[in-house]
Amino acid sequence: MTEETALHRETEQRSVATGKFCIRPFYTEYAWAFDLLIDRPVRKESATIVAWLIERGVRPGGDVLDAGCGTGRYAIELARRGYNVNGMDISPELVDEARRSLGGRQNVSFTVGDILALPAASYDAILCRGVLNDFLNDDDRQEVFASFSRALRSAGVLILDVREWAATAARKAREPVFRKSVDTDRGKLTFTSVTEVDAENRRLVVSERHTLSADGHERSSDHVFVMRCWTRDELDSNLRAAGFDGIAYFGAYDPAIGPAARIDSSPWRNERILRSDNTPLQPTRGAHQSDGP
Ligand SMILES: C[S@@+](CC[C@H](N)C(=O)[O-])C[C@H]1O[C@@H](n2cnc3c(N)ncnc32)[C@H](O)[C@@H]1O
Repeated sequence: MTEETALHRETEQRSVATGKFCIRPFYTEYAWAFDLLIDRPVRKESATIVAWLIERGVRPGGDVLDAGCGTGRYAIELARRGYNVNGMDISPELVDEARRSLGGRQNVSFTVGDILALPAASYDAILCRGVLNDFLNDDDRQEVFASFSRALRSAGVLILDVREWAATAARKAREPVFRKSVDTDRGKLTFTSVTEVDAENRRLVVSERHTLSADGHERSSDHVFVMRCWTRDELDSNLRAAGFDGIAYFGAYDPAIGPAARIDSSPWRNERILRSDNTPLQPTRGAHQSDGP
């Protein structure tokens, strides 16, 4: 077993034991179909990310971590725009996909790793897109910001997006089912998800099914997982506890869309984008240090 596979298996065991990490078929056996099923305007969003980075003093040539990079599509696009990018993800299958997409580019690399345990003072900026809803327990939700803060150099910049609880719960109550079919070189793939809103615990319980049909055979994989969305208050307090300030919120990767905007017709609806400066001050870790594994 390679070191990376061993890390993944260990994480999987922790996931089962503690409910800490989310191991979805999207991140494992269907990693190859991730980009086909979860389509995003990567180029357009990356243009805004670059504009925000430059505005905060991180120019092309700077070192960027794509934390929870998935298939590496944002990392590769930021590298194309001149940044030195490391994409890190806990899923070896997704990192394999990312490495396959590299196309010989020199200024981007991919690593299997846990963003809760990042090396200190290594990056000018961190992008963390669509990842933190997978973090379920309070300790990890605090510790991840301490990890980002340690990993950023002085005056580094953090850009992240999460699902905002109230808007997401309202939408999912209205539209619990999502279905998408794509023709792939392995056959016709249909993805269905059904989301239940657990209002009491502010969680979403998502039942997912991937069905692959080829040559008259059909194979389905079912998975149930929990997603925990965020409120502005929780983000604010976790960021500040980790030493971040200069925080700004947006309704999309578009500076014109403010956090209060309802953007129900867009593909990135109901998400809230946040960017923040990391102050030169080192945060005090004691108050929010996780004693998790
Ligand atoms: C919804 S995907 C987003 C992927 C990518 N950022 C994108 O926008 O295409 C969430 C990613 O977070 C990764 N992830 C979850 N917990 C992680 C952790 N503790 N460390 C590293 N990656 C993690 C998952 O493996 C998955 O690739």
